Amino acid sequence: MTVQLGIPETTVRADAIPHPLEPLTAEEIAAAVALVRGSGMLSARTRFASITLHEPPKETVLHFQLGDAVAREAFVILLDNDANAVYEVVVSITNGDIIRWEHIPGVQPQIMYDEFVECEAACKADPAFRDALARRGVTDMDLVMVEPWSAGNYGDASDQGMRLTRALMFVRSEPHDNGYARPVEGLVALVDLGAMRIVRIEDSGVVPLPPEPGNYAAEFIPAMRTDRKPIAITQPEGTSFSVDGHAVTWQKWHFRIGFTPREGLVLHTIGYDDGGRVRPVIYRAALSEMVVPYGDPSPSHNRKNAFDVGEYGIGLMANALELGCDCLGEIRYFDVFLNNSRGEVVRYQHAVCMHEEDTGILWKHYDWRTNQTEVRRSRRLVVSFIATVGNYEYGFYWYFYQDGAIGYEVKLTGVINTGALPPGETRKYGTLVAPQLYAPNHQHFFNVRLDIMVDGPQNSVYEVHTVAEPPGPENPHGNAFFAESTLLKTEQEAQQSVDPLNARYWKIVNPSVRNGLGQPVAYKLAPGENTRSFVDADSSVRRRAGFMGNHLWVTPYDPAEQYAAGDYPNQHAGGAGLPAYTAADRSIENTDLVVWYTMGHHHIPRPEDWPVMPVSTIGFMLKPLGFFDRNPALDVPPEMAMHGACCHEE
Ligand code: CU
Repeated sequence: MTVQLGIPETTVRADAIPHPLEPLTAEEIAAAVALVRGSGMLSARTRFASITLHEPPKETVLHFQLGDAVAREAFVILLDNDANAVYEVVVSITNGDIIRWEHIPGVQPQIMYDEFVECEAACKADPAFRDALARRGVTDMDLVMVEPWSAGNYGDASDQGMRLTRALMFVRSEPHDNGYARPVEGLVALVDLGAMRIVRIEDSGVVPLPPEPGNYAAEFIPAMRTDRKPIAITQPEGTSFSVDGHAVTWQKWHFRIGFTPREGLVLHTIGYDDGGRVRPVIYRAALSEMVVPYGDPSPSHNRKNAFDVGEYGIGLMANALELGCDCLGEIRYFDVFLNNSRGEVVRYQHAVCMHEEDTGILWKHYDWRTNQTEVRRSRRLVVSFIATVGNYEYGFYWYFYQDGAIGYEVKLTGVINTGALPPGETRKYGTLVAPQLYAPNHQHFFNVRLDIMVDGPQNSVYEVHTVAEPPGPENPHGNAFFAESTLLKTEQEAQQSVDPLNARYWKIVNPSVRNGLGQPVAYKLAPGENTRSFVDADSSVRRRAGFMGNHLWVTPYDPAEQYAAGDYPNQHAGGAGLPAYTAADRSIENTDLVVWYTMGHHHIPRPEDWPVMPVSTIGFMLKPLGFFDRNPALDVPPEMAMHGACCHEE
């Protein structure tokens, strides 16, 4: 999946980089590592948790002119396993020096891929671990899968001061088998990743391994359906987008692609060309955090809640995407360069996929009096990546449409998490999906951070819902209803939830810019599927994932506020991120704003989710609302089919 590069440790000429938001190159990552190592301040057991472009100030980016000098900096997080200490370092790659070196007390960076591998090996070498598995009839360690789950924070005094993971076990029946079919119920290994040894084994009693395999790979399917004819997506004249470095132009849209180990895909400086002028819409957009709280109180499952952004680094788990499978058509791939915990550059080939899709009709009208039809087909530009987090796959998709809309969608697939049951039993907190195998109830909450700038940085947010006019003199026939807009003046006022029965949406307005009708220009945030959290308000996961408590949050822009659950959610006691950011109840009126949208996908598993889950989707839309004076897609030309004119009258 990933390829190691032998990158020479040289300093990169900054003038080779054309834009301050270009992602770090392999050479720049290697240069940052060399600078950190050259400081002489690393212990022998220091890990490089992450190396990211240290993004320049917003003013620098917004005033940047092609050809300006670009100062390149890297933000490095170090974990010293000997001292259990975390350091944040900023290095200037341009100047070859260290700008900042700060010890951050009491925090844990995300669990690193190298630690997964080392943790599995340490567990399998531990006699107590082998004894616990032997009590369950498992003796072949090669078939055991050790899954280190983030430990959370449950206030256990004896666990303080350690870098912890709670490892769960699964057993394959043969090397290519789906191991999630055979969970080792009732067994948890608490591992200190700093010392890389088991602290204790929690064994709540033997439950037999479920009897059936759960395989889905083609080699295990005896009879494939045979009635499927080929379908081909071709663009004989190539794509309609152009790419310069990581800058993309497509159908009046302009934006830049970025990628971080923590957030994965990041989009920068999104704007729409309106008559030759690129009007800004979003400064920066990325998944800021996600959490998957499980709703089963049993010993193996009650501490399952993965913060896949802050605790694992969703970008670090990106897949290499393959032509014709993950994306279809004329594809432009972007490779991504990240680092492993030893400070080596890791190339993620084809991590980001970009392509165009036909999405049905854009608009249509048939005039029966003149027998004329005008119809246009809709096309969208898709920018995506897919991450595998243990058992689950998450696909993250940004969509750009020709009518000025932007969509975001998460596709959930992969293998559901499982537990074992004694023969004949079912479970209130989950669904039986195979004999003696069940999938616990859970939810997936995603928070997307939108550093919004609708036609400029100064914006305001309104809540909008629809009100039925009470019958009376203004509504004598009882048919009247209207949209009511309320300005959200402070951070607390902006903490809101979806309200589909009252058709609630949120409107991001630039009060200083008017459209041709005299209305302030705006975009609306239109929620899709959403739900609330079902965990108790005082539970550990609810305190640590406070962002689950509201679907909408709005903050005034602060470059230090990037993550919905705070900078270091791994083992954090709670309260960080959005609850802390918004505690002062700052003004959010006519200022530089960040809109944070939380969406929850509810998952009461189905038997059909086993052994591999058909894709479920969740997302939202950003649609222009008076940003234009009329439908901006009138100039999309009619299609010309291979066999002649179609879709409009000649
Ligand atoms: Cu799920």
